Amino acid sequence: MTDHRDEIEALLHEDRTFAPSPAFVAQANVDASIYDAAAADPVAYWAEQAERLTWGVPFTSTLEWNRPVATWFGDGQLNAAVNCVDRHVAVGNGDKVAYYFVGEPDGDTRTITYADLAREVAKAANALTELGVSAGDRVAIYMPMIPEAVVAMLACARIGAPHSVVFGGFSADALASRILDADCRVVITADGGYRRGAASGLKVNVDAALEQCPLVTSVLVVRRTGQEVSFTAGRDHWWHDLVDRQSSTHAAQLFPAEHPLYVMYTSGTTAKPKGILHTTGGYLTHVATTHSMVFDLKPATDVVWTAADIGWVTGHSYIVYGPLCNGATSVLYEGVPDAGGRDRWWRIVEEYGVTILYTAPTTIRTLMKWGEEHPERHDLSSLRLLGSVGEPINPEAWMWYRRVIGGDRCPIVDTWWQTETGGIMASPLPGVTATKPGAAMRALPGISIDVVDDDGRSVGNGEGGFLVVREPWPGMTRGIWGDPARFVETYFSQLPGVYFAGDGAKRDDDGDLWVLGRIDDVMNVSGHRLSTAEVEHALVAHPAVAEAAVVGASDATTGQAIVAFVTLRLDAVVDDDLVESLRLHVGQMIGPIAKPRQVLITPELPKTRSGKIMRRLLRDVAEQRTLGDTTTLVDPAVVAMIDELMRSAPADD
Ligand code: WT7
Repeated sequence: MTDHRDEIEALLHEDRTFAPSPAFVAQANVDASIYDAAAADPVAYWAEQAERLTWGVPFTSTLEWNRPVATWFGDGQLNAAVNCVDRHVAVGNGDKVAYYFVGEPDGDTRTITYADLAREVAKAANALTELGVSAGDRVAIYMPMIPEAVVAMLACARIGAPHSVVFGGFSADALASRILDADCRVVITADGGYRRGAASGLKVNVDAALEQCPLVTSVLVVRRTGQEVSFTAGRDHWWHDLVDRQSSTHAAQLFPAEHPLYVMYTSGTTAKPKGILHTTGGYLTHVATTHSMVFDLKPATDVVWTAADIGWVTGHSYIVYGPLCNGATSVLYEGVPDAGGRDRWWRIVEEYGVTILYTAPTTIRTLMKWGEEHPERHDLSSLRLLGSVGEPINPEAWMWYRRVIGGDRCPIVDTWWQTETGGIMASPLPGVTATKPGAAMRALPGISIDVVDDDGRSVGNGEGGFLVVREPWPGMTRGIWGDPARFVETYFSQLPGVYFAGDGAKRDDDGDLWVLGRIDDVMNVSGHRLSTAEVEHALVAHPAVAEAAVVGASDATTGQAIVAFVTLRLDAVVDDDLVESLRLHVGQMIGPIAKPRQVLITPELPKTRSGKIMRRLLRDVAEQRTLGDTTTLVDPAVVAMIDELMRSAPADD
């Protein structure tokens, strides 16, 4: 099922535990008593954590649980942007830096204080109001990693308009389907962004997407790269025209705790991505709490760098909402890790004195591949804590991260969570929990994770099963946009009454938690979530393709890589470029991240008597393993033939 699984499995029983250092323990935000206190009364625990926020109307009810929909802090009211920005300015922290923005081109930097952010968010909120956006309206955001992206999100939150941020790497088609699904009428974008030394085109994709979205009335465009873009009169507005002339004050309104804050699309097991809905009070409580506890945040002195894109939930929770609720200082970096040299990241750490670095295993493995000489050239002594997220981290990468980047001094928090959970669910608490390379260790206080068998019974130590969450938590998704039935079916029907995460997990002999990866047809490519069905859907839309089967195969760098098996239509034009054009076609339909590593054209696909394609065997083929049981196939010769084809196929990158 997952990358590096064998390596993780082999180490499960090895005793390699790192106890917290006395120096870290002495200054940690929490101690071990927090687990017991939370377990004794989880609802009271979360009510206490919610006091981190500023409530315009205090809540009196903490939780109502009408399985599967939770209402947290139901009668409370607050404003998300006020919690992220205004309240820090109000207590005299206006001059504190909210973001050190580092653009990809060398020297392209900006420092944004909380007071700056307050002014910009007020202006943008006024501009959105002028465009006719009001509370409840959805706004799509399709932007590079620039400060205006954060401002746009907060401006939406301020006026109660849920945002739907679409990752800038997605194609025009993918953007259009997301705009249509949430019925967004306004899109905020930029001409482009800088990526790998070149200017990407974003506005051009918006223009193409909007051909399918006639109801969009306004597009707000940030000038980032200066590239030429076409403008549709009446619909398109430059940010510097419309936003800059607005008043820099804006009276914020209170919204109920359960008011929708945002929708974030993520892949499920079908071809159609799900719009995961998050609301305000519970979500902010969860991300503020976890950002403080898991990263041992000291807002006055830390410089936190969550090296993720705001187009994914990690960016929402740990670049924007968590750090801002806590009044922290963050680095916001636009580009790729090797822009301007393979030591670019370490230059940033040194220059800004980054204390907390949070990234994905796939990036750690890439940095590792580039060699130790790059980090060694820089002073990384400011770092005091390292985090990992997005996929299982293989112990080798974990050990490298600890030794080379963390100088054997920084605790590593391997954080398990999902778009649906809103924030971190399982992770060591630094200064409290011991760590093991590759283990998420245990559920956070107030979170009831379990590992269960097919019947929903807890498994014992040393055994594997499904990862579930037994009780509601504040950051949990409140539903799938426009599809309540799919919500129940996906998360609450496999095992009655509990949240089914879709991951396999194991408790080791000490009872510590190891998350092993997806047990469904969801792939994890470089920490990006994609469904096999989505890629198959794109492939069969190509005129040459009859049938397609897609699997996620282990990959040393990206965790999993997409391998596609296709059969062709009788009238297909077959030439040397066909495989490449199929890859490009998928890239065009979904985005470059979805391009298969390999496409194998085969006369047939292995099927069972009931006509089901056996992906399990195709995964064996893709990973060049001994084939598993083939007795249920109509014709075992088919898979043997594909296996042969695979072995003779040229290996590509
Ligand atoms: C899936 C969720 C969480 C934000 C980024 C990804 C995998 C995530 C870990 C981890 C093992 C992990 C799971 C999960 N995953 N973190 N620390 N160890 N697996 O969010 O795109 O919603 O993907 O990522 O398989 O289900 P996402």
